[in-house]
Amino acid sequence: MTFISAALVGFLSYLPSALGHASLWHPSMYGFNVTDKTFDYDNRPVSPLMNMPFSQWWFHGHLDFPPNDGDFFELPAGKPATAEIACNKGATSFFASSEGGDIRVPSSPNTVCPNSGPDAFHTKGFDDLTGCALAIAYNSDAAAVQPEDFTVFSVNQTCVWTRFTDFQVPERMPPCPPGGCTCAFFWIHSPDSGGEQNYMNGFKCNITGATSTVPLAAPKVARRCGADSANGKWHAAPGNCTYGAKQPLYWFQQERNNMFEGTYSPPFYTDLYEFRDGPQDDIFEDSYLWLPDPSPTAPLPVLNTTSTTTPSSAGRRRRRGLERRRRVAY
Ligand SMILES: *[C@@H]1O[C@H](CO)[C@@H](O)[C@H](O)[C@H]1NC(C)=O
Ligand SMILES: *[C@@H]1O[C@H](CO)[C@@H](O)[C@H](O)[C@H]1NC(C)=O
Ligand SMILES: *[C@@H]1O[C@H](CO)[C@@H](O)[C@H](O)[C@H]1NC(C)=O
Ligand SMILES: *[C@@H]1O[C@H](CO)[C@@H](O)[C@H](O)[C@H]1NC(C)=O
Ligand SMILES: *[C@@H]1O[C@H](CO)[C@@H](O)[C@H](O)[C@H]1NC(C)=O
Repeated sequence: MTFISAALVGFLSYLPSALGHASLWHPSMYGFNVTDKTFDYDNRPVSPLMNMPFSQWWFHGHLDFPPNDGDFFELPAGKPATAEIACNKGATSFFASSEGGDIRVPSSPNTVCPNSGPDAFHTKGFDDLTGCALAIAYNSDAAAVQPEDFTVFSVNQTCVWTRFTDFQVPERMPPCPPGGCTCAFFWIHSPDSGGEQNYMNGFKCNITGATSTVPLAAPKVARRCGADSANGKWHAAPGNCTYGAKQPLYWFQQERNNMFEGTYSPPFYTDLYEFRDGPQDDIFEDSYLWLPDPSPTAPLPVLNTTSTTTPSSAGRRRRRGLERRRRVAY
């Protein structure tokens, strides 16, 4: 009896801190076994990052908690990679090393946060999703990777919604160096459902099945260019977008931000910042024939259709634009 009630009290006090927020979970990640006790503050991988000094938010402060040798998240060129995103490690395939054990719900294996509503992972519903992203640096030494080195290569705009989340890997991703690449998961949720929270989890990754060796272009800072009715902007400003390779969105920290939007207009991994849903197929050195500096009045860039074999929706849209122009010229 005493044991049961102690266990129950333990369980109940454990639950509230375990639920809420979300992170990617995989043995290749930095901080895989970090619990709420590892640091003198709750620095579990699912804890949100805001108003932090660089050392605390970058890689979630987990660079000293690397994965075991040989653990890589494999990214098959031209195919989807399935990640697991959850509010607790116990809700993933990796529950065995979770402090609370297996909390998966057999009847709904795809749930991000067992026994709680979607507000636990900061959304009011499917229409309120703001997307998440995977970024890559072609450097196996994570400690040497700087914010300016990461390029977003895949976006899932309907994230965080299901535990198993697919990220399409661009077909032309070149192979990683001998020690593999360094990757990270990024997510900023809707302002309707919580504070100014950034999420970042670093992990070791490797491109498999590469068929191209063209390097990624140097990533630039994304710009707010889509329609934004919540802020009274009814039309997109396509010339204002950063096209091609883009850095992740670093927002609301004490240091090293590249986004300076206010509390109620966070930057997102959506069309609002020209992060199209799926593979970012236009991030390579040869992806564009012409890439003018963005501004609200700038002309649109010209995609290299010879190199971009599997165009993103942006590419298709732009090419349709070009075809229209050509037809007009005839
Ligand atoms: C995490 O913990 C599990 C279980 O204790 C252990 O087998 C594994 O090696 C640990 N992984 C890391 C990266 O420390
Ligand atoms: C986003 O993930 C969901 C769940 O795995 C998947 O059904 C969807 O196709 C993914 N979206 C893209 C663009 O890959
Ligand atoms: C990365 O994948 C490639 C292709 O499968 C493989 O040859 C290489 O050994 C892998 N690198 C690491 C560090 O595992
Ligand atoms: C253009 O992008 C900048 C930088 O993100 C943003 O501040 C500005 O509001 C955007 N203007 C238009 C018209 O989209
Ligand atoms: C366009 O792509 C082709 C095929 O990859 C490449 O040979 C060519 O150099 C690219 N053009 C430019 C301007 O990068």
